[in-house]
Amino acid sequence: MSDVDRPRTSLPPIVAAQDTPRDTPPSSTANTPLNAAVADRFLRAGTLNLAAQPPLALYVHLPWCLKKCPYCDFNSHENGGHALPEAQQRRYLDALVADLEAALPLVWGRPVVSVFIGGGTPSLFPPEAIARLVSDIRARLPLIPDAEVTMEANPGTFERERFRAYRAAGVTRLSIGIQSFNDRHLKALGRVHDRAQALAAAEEAAASFETFNLDLMYALPGQTLAEQAEDLATALALQPPHLSVYHLTIEPNTRFAIDPPSVPDDDQAAEMLDQISAMTDAAGLQRYEVSAYAKPGHRCAHNLNYWSFGDYLGIGAGAHGKLSFPHRVLRQVKWREPARYMDEALRGTATSNEHEVARKDLPFEFMLNVLRLRDGFPLTLLAERTGLPMSAIEAGLARAEQHGLITRDWAAVRPTARGFDFLSDLQEMFLA
Ligand SMILES: C[S@@+](CC[C@H](N)C(=O)[O-])C[C@H]1O[C@@H](n2cnc3c(N)ncnc32)[C@H](O)[C@@H]1O
Ligand code: SF4
Repeated sequence: MSDVDRPRTSLPPIVAAQDTPRDTPPSSTANTPLNAAVADRFLRAGTLNLAAQPPLALYVHLPWCLKKCPYCDFNSHENGGHALPEAQQRRYLDALVADLEAALPLVWGRPVVSVFIGGGTPSLFPPEAIARLVSDIRARLPLIPDAEVTMEANPGTFERERFRAYRAAGVTRLSIGIQSFNDRHLKALGRVHDRAQALAAAEEAAASFETFNLDLMYALPGQTLAEQAEDLATALALQPPHLSVYHLTIEPNTRFAIDPPSVPDDDQAAEMLDQISAMTDAAGLQRYEVSAYAKPGHRCAHNLNYWSFGDYLGIGAGAHGKLSFPHRVLRQVKWREPARYMDEALRGTATSNEHEVARKDLPFEFMLNVLRLRDGFPLTLLAERTGLPMSAIEAGLARAEQHGLITRDWAAVRPTARGFDFLSDLQEMFLA
């Protein structure tokens, strides 16, 4: 099976860049505080004609963890096994505000549909810091009423009362990185928590939030089919409204890549995935995306916006953004290394890299996202999000249909079960 379920829910779906010199010339907005004249640059004529701007979301990255996990390729950094000192936390929050303020002219007047505070381990920041962050955001961006505000949290020793305080700080949805309830597997994954802490965190989330997510991984080092079923049954007994279940991927530049553990082979992993589908289905959780399962009314609005090729502003170390203008789609990356990010953001230069997406690359970028959704996409969405006609993807659609990877009618294109199983192959059919 191909890597159909790569983890990329909280982080936008394009791989994080290193801190490289920016693509754009020094006259670009990457380097100067924005003003009307600079914003003109993004409004001038271009190769695309978008009828409307997509919904806009905000991603906020908090890049520290107690300990770096050996499988993790996210932009996360150890802080000697401790939470960040208070002065450092304050400086980072100041940098986030500076980053946001510099970006405001790019999104003037646009309502924000969701916020995702991801990491790293955002729950290393205390509720007071998160309350300040949420109110700093609300003071600068018009969040829609009932906007979803998700925060990632790791199981640990301090969740009692703390999760409730995050709810009071304005977080509406918690996403907990459980990974497994099996102590042997947690150890093999280098996690700092154990089964008891994972259970306590999930129970506390259920008591404090109307909606929450549990992250699990499968095909873990030495995991059997029965152990995987036990893990999932434990998760389902906690009645989570949302579950994300990822196939453990050995990512380059991780400790697992240097010293790979022995993991279940592709056939065993496929059996586990069948088991996951059956068990989640029986529990009333619908698989609405390759790795995401939800009860009705509990889908993640923020991730749905990524998968529908919506817009997002990214603030924080290494955060990515995608912003649409009438005649272009812009991608941005912020400085990746936290110390450098803080220095740059406080100077008004948080963006390390930005480029316009070439017209020829848009079909693939669009399909890369929308094909992750079980319901696929309405035919009108391509023109709405990219300004391109259906003819831009027709050859790929015809091939995919021939291979039984999609179905389509007058209203929508949907991946088939086979298409989901061979998602990478399906997505590649739309490469320029
Ligand atoms: C942004 S990450 C981290 C969230 C949180 N810091 C944690 O680790 O609990 C979101 C999720 O991606 C998944 N993930 C991270 N690395 C992965 C990998 N190499 N393969 C599969 N899933 C991975 C984990 O389930 C993790 O909870
Ligand atoms: S806690 Fe999460 S973000 Fe941090 S290193 Fe582990 S997997 Fe990565």
